[in-house]
Amino acid sequence: DDPRLVDTFGRVATDLRISLTDRCNLRCTYCMPAEGLDWMPRSEQLTDDELVRLIGVAVHELGVEELRFTGGEPLLRKGLENVLAASAALRPRPDISLTTNGIGLARRARALASAGVNRLNVSLDTLRQDRFATITRRDRISDVLDGLRAARDAGLAPVKINSVLLRGVNDDEACDLLEFALEHGYQLRFIEQMPLDAQHGWKRTSMVTAGEIMDLLSARFTLTEHPEDRGGAPAEKFVVDGGPQTVGIIASVTRPFCGACDRTRLTADGQVRTCLFAHTETDLRAMLRRGAPDHEIADVWRDAMWGKRAGHGIDDPGFLQPDRPMSAIGG
Ligand code: GTP
Ligand code: 5AD
Ligand code: SF4
Repeated sequence: DDPRLVDTFGRVATDLRISLTDRCNLRCTYCMPAEGLDWMPRSEQLTDDELVRLIGVAVHELGVEELRFTGGEPLLRKGLENVLAASAALRPRPDISLTTNGIGLARRARALASAGVNRLNVSLDTLRQDRFATITRRDRISDVLDGLRAARDAGLAPVKINSVLLRGVNDDEACDLLEFALEHGYQLRFIEQMPLDAQHGWKRTSMVTAGEIMDLLSARFTLTEHPEDRGGAPAEKFVVDGGPQTVGIIASVTRPFCGACDRTRLTADGQVRTCLFAHTETDLRAMLRRGAPDHEIADVWRDAMWGKRAGHGIDDPGFLQPDRPMSAIGG
């Protein structure tokens, strides 16, 4: 029997994405309302020890090879560096990455690198101060730009930038964002907006598609398909102007990569999710708190993943957005 997290479609989940908190210090309009959300009570959150124990089960019993820490905003989690260091001490050592909005990163990049973070993805949708303030409802673009630089200087390579384009808001900046990334040595990826906002306001027609993004970029750049095998990576990579630099497009909606998905997820309150778009969750926190041994937790996690659906089904007639928003699932 395969001890790993396999499903009925033959996929194996070797990438664990962990939401460390549902809180955030930005209020991106496409993610949550201006007043924020009803944050998870602390007592419902896994403690550092509980979290590290589950990560250990994933690595030791279930063959997880990569950890990605997300949020909300993961830098808001107290004890982050301890969780990272404990994760980096596991054997075999997992690859460790973090997806952050970059606020506070400038101060912490070196500590994150020493704690064991290998790679960092930073969200940045615009290069203009006024637009950043409009999109995120906070006037903090300089924090993010400083954070990007600090991450690169701390040796967190590659530093990737995630950009969501919004029609009529920042879609005229596609080329400028790429130019900026090329100039500073960051790896840019554009992301199609998915129906995961807390307000349930997503409309397919307002999403800027991968096809449109290619057209926008083609006005200034020549893009050619990257020869490397993509594996389970969500981004399609393109070589820019003959290389060596690249740009990525994460076309979750128009060109879904669910067939190659290698992910399992853990929410800040200890629920396993098989997919961003899953409608059921499996409660590992309850097992931890009643003293279940590792092998039982591993069995339950395996059973959960066996039930993973073929794909997100955004195009299915009866599609329903999950109850939890992206900020509480983890990006
Ligand atoms: P690397 O390529 O390893 O750096 O990671 P990544 O691109 O998976 O990580 P990141 O956290 O930066 O995610 C970027 C975006 O990919 C997210 O914001 C989502 O839009 C999308 N994404 C991440 N995970 C999933 C997933 O399981 N399903 C779908 N459809 N999209 C995902
Ligand atoms: N669809 C796609 N990406 C999203 N993000 C936040 N909400 C959505 C959504 N509905 C992005 C953020 C960040 C990453 C973690 O997810 O901009 O870059
Ligand atoms: Fe925070 Fe990310 Fe949501 Fe923006 S998209 S409000 S940075 S969780």
